Amino acid sequence: MQTVEIMEKTFDSEANDIALYLAMSRQAENEGHYEIASYLLNVAVDEAHHAAEFAALLGKVRDTRTNLLNMLANEVKAEKDKKEASKIAFTEGNEEAFQFFEKSMHDERRHKAGIIKVLSKLGKGLNQE
Ligand SMILES: [Fe+2]
Ligand SMILES: [Fe+2]
Repeated sequence: MQTVEIMEKTFDSEANDIALYLAMSRQAENEGHYEIASYLLNVAVDEAHHAAEFAALLGKVRDTRTNLLNMLANEVKAEKDKKEASKIAFTEGNEEAFQFFEKSMHDERRHKAGIIKVLSKLGKGLNQE
């Protein structure tokens, strides 16, 4: 396997680990294991740094304006995907999934609005490539 392919897989794996460690940290906190929760959160942050480094090495990080425009497109897609997913979860009667798709859809919308706001602070219009 080529190094770049391995790096792409590693990036995905690190990103996956961030979510798992964060979820497990929350679980440990819910169980009252605060020290373990804190440790797992620290590992999640370490994994985030690993993922970030691979993202940079893979050329996924550009100048800030380009990054924001890329992530804006990403958030627009994420909001749309969550809306679709929420409909499917509702139709299938999965109330828990429906509720969280709805909540995260609103989060994605907020992320989108926040990115638009910071882009405007860069002093250039959205259409000025
Ligand atoms: Fe890692
Ligand atoms: Fe988002």
